[in-house]
Amino acid sequence: MSDVQDRSQASSRRSPEGVGTPVGAVDFAAWRAAQQAVIEQALSAWVRSDAPAGLGEAMRYAVLDGGKRLRPLLALAACEAVGGQAAVALRVGCALELIHAYSLVHDDMPCMDNDVLRRGKPTVHVRFGEAQALLVGDALQALAFELLLPGDGSVPDAMAVSLCRQLALAAGADGMAGGQAVDLASVGVALDQPALEAMHRLKTGALLQASVMMGASTGPLTAEAREQLAVYGAALGLAFQVVDDVLDVTADSATLGKTAGKDAAADKPTFVALMGLDAAQAYADRVLDQAHAALRRSGLPHTDTLHALADWVGQRAS
Ligand code: IPE
Ligand code: IPE
Ligand code: MG
Ligand code: MG
Ligand code: MG
Repeated sequence: MSDVQDRSQASSRRSPEGVGTPVGAVDFAAWRAAQQAVIEQALSAWVRSDAPAGLGEAMRYAVLDGGKRLRPLLALAACEAVGGQAAVALRVGCALELIHAYSLVHDDMPCMDNDVLRRGKPTVHVRFGEAQALLVGDALQALAFELLLPGDGSVPDAMAVSLCRQLALAAGADGMAGGQAVDLASVGVALDQPALEAMHRLKTGALLQASVMMGASTGPLTAEAREQLAVYGAALGLAFQVVDDVLDVTADSATLGKTAGKDAAADKPTFVALMGLDAAQAYADRVLDQAHAALRRSGLPHTDTLHALADWVGQRAS
């Protein structure tokens, strides 16, 4: 389990008037730690070691013991906000985490970002070879959909169909994979802000927004709440990748658990390259304000944890 340091000791949750109110940081830290333990246990049960020819071991290496688990946490918090089915939300969160883990395995491969360090460990292709890393990604993607289709009635059919559709859209050509294609095609290209934003929204934002919307799909949702949660998820997703760009410059490899300074070295278009460090962080904070505002408009009664997660995204140190 990663022990993520916050940049500030206390997160601030905005009041309806938009004024920062003291915290809930202790409660949120306790909630986060408890949920991370539940998520870890569920992932460990679902990612089995007995796949042939060492594939299971490599899959478990890619998924377990590391990562902030932001996507499952968002799904669980969104479920909480709508009074949804927690057991289904745990499946949803783990499915999202498997897609995320697969995207990281492939992102690190020599044909993409060529990284050797991830979550404080050698990357999957370094440890197990490139062919196995490719297969780990393939198998994790399939397993994600299997989790949403348990075949025992525990996820109602109509809900499973909706969840699979949302996950497919977020992971595929119109989501994460499409964004990764733009990222690779943009090396050495000075993207303007709309183009950079569009790339970030796809490569990282789509899956984070889906985490919120899929978690919320486990319960009843008014049209207004759905619309505002979508705005919240999109804003949080964009801000998350802007902060990732900032941390690539400001943090060290030991704290990040991945190689710092890679974006500039690889001539990647980033928000830091576009507008500089301070303006990029300020931009992330402004976008997160939009996320908080959308939550307040949603009319949902239990959004404290979603507010706290948005604060965490802005203040994280890794
Ligand atoms: C890193 O994601 C890759 C991006 C999508 C920017 P995270 O920062 O969520 O990575 P883990 O899961 O905590 O390792
Ligand atoms: C990766 O973005 C996004 C996905 C894996 C979809 P980055 O390449 O910026 O992520 P890090 O910095 O390697 O974690
Ligand atoms: Mg990348
Ligand atoms: Mg990368
Ligand atoms: Mg990055």
